[in-house]
Amino acid sequence: MNRRRFLASVPLALLYARAGQTLAQMPPSAGLRALADGKSFRFGSAIDAEDVNNPIASQLYIDNVNSITPRNELKWNATEKRPGVFSFGPADRLVAFARKNNMRVYGHTLVWYRTPDWVSAITDAETIRVAMNRHIKQVVTRYKRSIDAWDVVNEPLEYDAPDLRNCVFRRHLGDDYIRMSFDMAHEADPDAMLVLNETHLEKKSDVFEQKRARILKIVEDLVARKTPIGAVGLQSHFRPGLDRIDPERMGRFCATLKDMGVGVFITELDASCHFLNRDQSFTPVPYAEIFGDVITVAAERGDLKGATVWGMSEKYGELDEKDTHPGAACTKRVNLYDENNDPRSSIDGIKRAIEAM
Ligand code: XIL
Repeated sequence: MNRRRFLASVPLALLYARAGQTLAQMPPSAGLRALADGKSFRFGSAIDAEDVNNPIASQLYIDNVNSITPRNELKWNATEKRPGVFSFGPADRLVAFARKNNMRVYGHTLVWYRTPDWVSAITDAETIRVAMNRHIKQVVTRYKRSIDAWDVVNEPLEYDAPDLRNCVFRRHLGDDYIRMSFDMAHEADPDAMLVLNETHLEKKSDVFEQKRARILKIVEDLVARKTPIGAVGLQSHFRPGLDRIDPERMGRFCATLKDMGVGVFITELDASCHFLNRDQSFTPVPYAEIFGDVITVAAERGDLKGATVWGMSEKYGELDEKDTHPGAACTKRVNLYDENNDPRSSIDGIKRAIEAM
């Protein structure tokens, strides 16, 4: 155990708390799983297939989460690279890891504009409908007993605009492809929670408010047609220095969904670092706020079904786009542990949010 981990032991944290110090000054906590389990809160992380072969990486998941989301292993590009030829090896290994450690598995994702070339090359409605149905049916049915929530449609809107993306599904089936996808997934597993996952719904900006409005409209239509949507996924990839959470408008969005009987899920929480140098006021402490506040707002205003971070440790994590942004403060996307596997204050933010539930 290294020094910082040792300092993170619970009794010491209590001492700090008694001394009246703020959470940000306290040593980081040991791991979030016990807390999440105690609150019956689904707390998860994205995971890569190779993580389960690495004892140090896998221990971080075991210590912290009761749910995992295969980061890429369930995407169409991974499961059906060629028409009708399915491969599930890496996804199966993650499902087995979850079972062994008594974790739930969140499925990501069934219908996304990023498809294998053979899908994007389809030119007519019937062929795409048949391909969609076969894909959804195969994947969802296979994991019926092990995956209980699915991002059915991922990123239906443009990244920085409130318009529906011109993906291959929409080109041939029209806007109704969203409803069709949900109905197909529901048919394959009537018990799974079905999610519509989108970017930027938690952030401040008029364009993102328009995205919220567009998503609400889509959900309203689904609900009106009795399409079984369980939640909207708020990806929550934050870019400190460039954008921030909008507690008021995000809160109203979550509350409106709740009024319609639809939950919210924080699905891909992380932070980039390549815009940091634009915000001179930023110090490492706000990571606690970035990671904590979005969960708190969702829990207080919406029907929060769970929260997932998009990676556990930067040591095994994904590169940020540093090259295109000279002077950026780090090279990896910010997770709960840094490149030395030392805990970050982001853990404290999440801890505070779950404790308050
Ligand atoms: C990303 C993964 O993190 C990368 O490893 C992969 O190369 C591309 O996809 N929104 C999503 C996720 O819904 O699937 C994306 O994941 C990140 C943005």
